[in-house]
Amino acid sequence: MADFREITPQEIAENPFKLIGGDWALVTAGDRERFNTMTISWGGMGIMWNKPVVFSFIRPQRYTFEFTEQNDHFTMSFFDEEYRKALAFCGSKSGRDVDKVKETGLTPAFTEDGVPYFEEAKLVLVCKKLYAQDLNAQSITDQAVVSPNYNGNDYHKMYVSEIVKALTV
Ligand SMILES: Cc1cc2nc3c(=O)[nH]c(=O)nc-3n(C[C@H](O)[C@H](O)[C@H](O)COP(=O)(O)O)c2cc1C
Repeated sequence: MADFREITPQEIAENPFKLIGGDWALVTAGDRERFNTMTISWGGMGIMWNKPVVFSFIRPQRYTFEFTEQNDHFTMSFFDEEYRKALAFCGSKSGRDVDKVKETGLTPAFTEDGVPYFEEAKLVLVCKKLYAQDLNAQSITDQAVVSPNYNGNDYHKMYVSEIVKALTV
């Protein structure tokens, strides 16, 4: 069992561009009975409504989307490089078709409130949704982003979520 200790969001030492965009993360939502996880590399961290928040963007066709929609909380788990293959797997297969826990060997853990994350993570952010909104074509101000990203009209849903707990090893 990993020995996590709680830190404040302000104590997160790593650069968010590297952490999210470079290292990637797993977004995991659900409960002890039923949850799903998927890889993300788009998003951000910052301050909104005077709270420490993460910004995440989930396309509606993801199986994980059902879970982020149905639950108030989710986690973002960050890993060392040795888990790259596991994250690539979770970002290329759907939980509708495969058992990601079984296939990757990652070990699910749960917060006191039953929010899922992974034992192998080096940093876990427990997030509480504050705001959720579908991105839409009308609000795009630079059309150059549309065609490389939205040929399927599958605009992401943006979640702004409070970091209610940060755990590190
Ligand atoms: C490096 C990487 C980053 C990704 N980032 C995102 C993202 O930010 N948002 C998103 O909706 N999908 C993203 N994906 C795609 C999902 O992880 C992928 O479709 C996954 O298989 C969905 O799994 P699910 O159907 O079990 O939810 C990313 C995939 C990879 C490999």
